[in-house]
Amino acid sequence: MSFRPQPTPIARPNRCQLFGPGSRPALFEKMAASAADVINLDLEDSVAPSDKDTARANIIAAIGAIDWGNKTLSVRINGLDTPYWYRDVVDLLEQSSDRLDQIMIPKVGCAADVYAVDALVTAVERAKGRAKPITFEVIIESAAGIAHVEEIAASSPRLVAMSLGAADFAASMGMQTTGIGGTQENYYMIQNGAKHWPDPWHWAQAAIVAACRTHGVLPVDGPFGDFSDDEGFLAQAHRCATLGMVGKWAIHPKQIALANSVFTPSDAAVAEAREILAAMADAKARGEGATVYKGRLVDIASIKQAEVIVKQAEMLAAS
Ligand code: COA
Ligand code: MG
Repeated sequence: MSFRPQPTPIARPNRCQLFGPGSRPALFEKMAASAADVINLDLEDSVAPSDKDTARANIIAAIGAIDWGNKTLSVRINGLDTPYWYRDVVDLLEQSSDRLDQIMIPKVGCAADVYAVDALVTAVERAKGRAKPITFEVIIESAAGIAHVEEIAASSPRLVAMSLGAADFAASMGMQTTGIGGTQENYYMIQNGAKHWPDPWHWAQAAIVAACRTHGVLPVDGPFGDFSDDEGFLAQAHRCATLGMVGKWAIHPKQIALANSVFTPSDAAVAEAREILAAMADAKARGEGATVYKGRLVDIASIKQAEVIVKQAEMLAAS
């Protein structure tokens, strides 16, 4: 094991990130009143090119005017391959109130993409004397993004979260599907004549989790497009939580409670984790590094596993 301790990510609830188009300001109050931990006001792909200027103005006005409570307030800017992104950054940072917490950079393909936005943000912050530094989150949603995921995770001290964007990712990879997350009909295996559906998003999610955990960034799963399929959303969210992700996007308000339920450790899971810690404390008192809990081995690694769950529950309770 490396002698370097694994960095600790920002301690904040990030169970659900609720999106809404900047061109639909009627949604903003509803978003603010929702149970999502993070609000993502969108300037990118949910806003038509003809609406970009209006959406930007809507968002700048709403940042200061609406009571966003203790939510993390993030704005998704346009990608670096568009003519809009620099105006998004400059206008947001020059004109919005200090209530803005974060900028989401879409379609990041390499660390230099983040560096470019960081340079611009830093210059505007200094020029305007903004007291609160803006944090970044990025979306991995291209072949280049996943190929360079580790350097992207290490790209800036501003970076606190990283999401997988399934739709653009699938398109960039040339995947033959129009589904946004979830089970893909043609991604199957056959055993004894029966079809089984593995998870085509799994490897990208695991790569994101590893890159994020290496560099102290929160790993998050992106959109699940079929918002009429609660079971499908829950299945994907449970898989992500099991892999180490801390939350998931909601692209419709009905997905918020689903995400919160999955990414809040259950009372039973917390109770079991505490029992494991107690069993290991007893073992330590007896001078033992391993013991038996409910018929199974627990050892010093089990302490770290249990602490993941207990610390997450304590952080959420304190927030
Ligand atoms: N945030 C908060 N409230 C929302 C909402 C959102 N993103 N989307 C819809 N609502 C509200 C509606 O205003 C409506 O409220 P009401 O009961 O007071 O009338 C209620 O939730 C039900 O909405 P519904 O009619 O089912 O949805 P819609 O047809 O108005 O909108 C979408 C559906 C998918 C277009 C819309 O949810 C949306 O734009 N989602 C976000 C898309 C996005 O940002 N994509 C980028 C990231 S992938
Ligand atoms: Mg996208």
